Amino acid sequence: PSQRSSDLTFGLYSGAMKIVEAQKIYAEMKSCNACIMRQGCTQVVTYDGMLDDTPLLLIVGEAPGADEDREGRPFVGDCGILLRQALRATQILKKNNTIISNTLKCRPPNNKFPQDKNIARFCMSKWLDKEIEAIEPKRMLLLGNIPLGFVAGLAGITKVKNTWITVKGIRTLPTYHPSYVIRRMNEGDMETRQRSEEHTSELQSLA
Ligand code: URA
Repeated sequence: PSQRSSDLTFGLYSGAMKIVEAQKIYAEMKSCNACIMRQGCTQVVTYDGMLDDTPLLLIVGEAPGADEDREGRPFVGDCGILLRQALRATQILKKNNTIISNTLKCRPPNNKFPQDKNIARFCMSKWLDKEIEAIEPKRMLLLGNIPLGFVAGLAGITKVKNTWITVKGIRTLPTYHPSYVIRRMNEGDMETRQRSEEHTSELQSLA
């Protein structure tokens, strides 16, 4: 084959190779027992979404809660309902091009994100870093201060929300965590929800 056609062939298969690599990572993650976090949860919570096409968007939350721990998928509880509503409004979820994931893969005891940062750092070096590398998403959405800190190395979601930043060469949008939005709505603040939907609609260009 000419140089040209082999380049084309490589281009065609490299997307599929990425997906195979990501599937392998998620399969290994499922049986991870590398730290004490696994002892306090029912199962490792891997990802949600379809790995049948190159994903455009990787969404990163904090850690699984009780609902996620039971079902094995991220964002299936109240936070997930709000997140999926916001994504549906931008048409993003209709395209099967989104992977939803978390910084930590095991539900922390009492739903409290571990104070010892080394726990999340260790988990990230084992999993989320590799996921990001394998998936090579076009965009990332970071939900709240936890992924903002661990993935982007930044602090203060209220300052950087709705501002595109570059993380590992990927255009990344930090926004509120849905649990914050739910808390504010329960306190009667509907504006926060409105604003968070505006942030998410920044992603419309992907849909
Ligand atoms: N559910 C998740 O999977 N992650 C969060 O950060 C919150 C709820």
